[in-house]
Amino acid sequence: MHMNSHEGKAILALIRDGDFAHAGEEESIRLVLDHIPQGQPGPILDVGCGRGGTADFIRRQGWSPMVGIDIDATSIAEASQRYPLVQFQTANVEHLVDCITGKFGMFVLFNSFYAFPDQALALGQLRKIANDSALLVIFDYTDPAGMFEHKDIKVARYDYWQPLKLAQLPAQLKQTGWALHSVEDLTLHYAQWYRQLVNKIHAKREAIVGEYGKDWYDFVERDYSEMLQCIERSWLGGAIVLAKAI
Ligand SMILES: C[S@@+](CC[C@H](N)C(=O)[O-])C[C@H]1O[C@@H](n2cnc3c(N)ncnc32)[C@H](O)[C@@H]1O
Repeated sequence: MHMNSHEGKAILALIRDGDFAHAGEEESIRLVLDHIPQGQPGPILDVGCGRGGTADFIRRQGWSPMVGIDIDATSIAEASQRYPLVQFQTANVEHLVDCITGKFGMFVLFNSFYAFPDQALALGQLRKIANDSALLVIFDYTDPAGMFEHKDIKVARYDYWQPLKLAQLPAQLKQTGWALHSVEDLTLHYAQWYRQLVNKIHAKREAIVGEYGKDWYDFVERDYSEMLQCIERSWLGGAIVLAKAI
């Protein structure tokens, strides 16, 4: 069982009442869009777009053309059916240059960067398909106490996690052709969003067990309750990062 699998994201969509697998659903997308300077030219690429709800929501706020890529082919096939006004493509961010044509004016990453195995490679690939005034927007988890660096968190789900390390971010971006523009801490929002999420999981118990079985319900409930504990202990936070192409 894995929350980033097609089935995991389908369960999250049921819980969140929308095709979102990121903290804060539509509220956080609006928060991110508020940070983007007016007139930032497109096209826009949603990197690690999952089920496509975020890309389509952004399109409906007036941003276009919208393109979404994700490594999960099943989610991409479904997103293409549900949101025909967004162009979706199955792709690994680490090999984007080989499968995407054209240049982009903006990249949005909603809780996907933490899951990329080689973040430097991913940032470098995005820079290669960015135009010279491109903006990179990363909405993601942070590692405020350095717990992930030393793998101190003994929870299986975190084995592959690489949340943002804000102290190292300027150098990480610069080495890959990006300059850090701003960081807004969202940890208090994350605590509130994950409290709400755990409550929604409890409220939707019957529907989750009915459609996906008790094992999945137990897994999801434990997973997000532990995640909420990590946020409340300041082991995990959240932020919006803006960077510009250099
Ligand atoms: C937590 S989900 C977020 C999905 C989406 N951004 C949203 O907000 O609903 C993380 C997504 O990153 C995708 N992902 C992980 N590694 C990837 C990679 N190397 N290339 C492209 N997508 C990847 C996963 O398949 C998953 O859909």
